[in-house]
Amino acid sequence: AKQTVTVIRGDGIGPSIIDSAIEILNAAGCDFEYEYVDAGLAALEKTGELLPPETLEAIERNKLTLKGPLTTPVGEGFTSINVTLRKQFGLYANVRPVKSFEGTQARYDNIDIITVRENTQGMYSGLGQVTSEDGTEAEAMSKITREGAEKIVTFAYELAQREGRKKVTAVHKANILKSTSGLFLKVAREVGERFPDIESAEMIVDATCMKLVMNPDEFDVVVTTNLFGDIISDLCAGLVGGLGMAPGANIGENAAIFEAVHGSAPDIAGKNLANPTSVILASIQMLEYLDMGETAERIRSAVADVIKSGDRTTRDLGGNHGTTDFTQAVIERL
Ligand code: NAI
Ligand code: MG
Repeated sequence: AKQTVTVIRGDGIGPSIIDSAIEILNAAGCDFEYEYVDAGLAALEKTGELLPPETLEAIERNKLTLKGPLTTPVGEGFTSINVTLRKQFGLYANVRPVKSFEGTQARYDNIDIITVRENTQGMYSGLGQVTSEDGTEAEAMSKITREGAEKIVTFAYELAQREGRKKVTAVHKANILKSTSGLFLKVAREVGERFPDIESAEMIVDATCMKLVMNPDEFDVVVTTNLFGDIISDLCAGLVGGLGMAPGANIGENAAIFEAVHGSAPDIAGKNLANPTSVILASIQMLEYLDMGETAERIRSAVADVIKSGDRTTRDLGGNHGTTDFTQAVIERL
C-alpha cells in the first residue's frame, strides 16, 4: 500500500511553503498519498477549534505528518498547538539540523550542527502556570524526569553514532537551575559513558550561545532541554542564513511530525516571499526517516544548486524571486 502522509498546511506562509515541498516531492517521484487536515487559525475559522479531533486522528493513523507553521493566538486562553501536539503524541525528540549551503548570505560556510531538543518537558511542560488575580505575580513550573532526560540524551548519542558524528555536547544551566538542569546534566554524563567512541562535552547555555557565534566549528551534536533547545536552534538557523534554512523533526515512538523551525511569519505572509527551503529540508528529513536516502539526496542537491547559482532565490537569500519561482527552479533541476 502507498504510504499516506498527513499534511497540515498551516497559517501565514505555511500553505505556500508546504505546497512547494509537496510539488518537489512529487517531481522527485515520491509516490505518497496525502491526507489534508487543518489545525491552527485555519481550523479555528472552519470548526471553532484550533485542533479538531479529525486532525488528531489523521496524525495518529498515518504516523507521518508534514506540517506548516501554526499561529497560536496570544493571550486569549489558547495553549500552543505545537506544544499540545508534541505532548499528546509523545514526540520527545526535536531534531534540528543546520548545514551551510553555498550561496547564502550567512557568515560561515562550514556549519554542520544538529540540535537535539527535549520536546515535552522542562519549561514547556505547561505545569503550574498561574497568574495572580490582580495580575502582579506569575509563576510556571519546569519539570525534568530521569526517564525523559535519559531518552533524549540516548537519542542524541544514537543519532551521532548512526550518522558518524564525533561529539555530543550537553547544554545546561546546572549551576543555577540545580534541580532540573542538574538532573539533566547528571543523566547526560551517565549516558555519555555508555558511548565511549563518541566524545562527550558539556557546556553552560549562555557560554554556548557565545561560542556558537564565535567558534561554531566546536559543535557537532548538541543535546539540551526544551527552552534552551528552542533558543539555540534559532541561533543555529542564523548561522546558515536564517530561519528559512532550518527544518525540524518531532520524533516519538509512534508518530513523527516534520516541520520548519520558524513560525507563520505574518510580516511576509501572502506575498510570495517566503523561502520554502525550511520545509523542503523537513520533507528531506522525512524521506531519511523512511530510509529513502537516495531521493532525499537528490532533492537536497537540487536545492543546493539553486541556492548556489543564485538565479532564482528568495529575498532572505539575497535574491529577488518568489516562493513559486524558487520551487520551479528546484523542480527543473530534478
Ligand atoms: P517567525 O519564525 O514566524 O518569523 C521570524 C522572522 O523570520 C520574521 O521576520 C519572518 O519573516 C522570518 N521568516 C520566518 N520564516 C521565513 C521563511 N521561510 N522565509 C523567509 N523569512 C522567514 O516568528 P514570529 O513572527 O515570532 O511568530 C509568528 C507566529 O508563528 C506566532 O503566532 C508564533 O506562535 C508562531 N510560531 C509557530 C511555530 C510552529 O508552528 N512550529 C514556531 C514558531 C512560532
Ligand atoms: Mg522556536
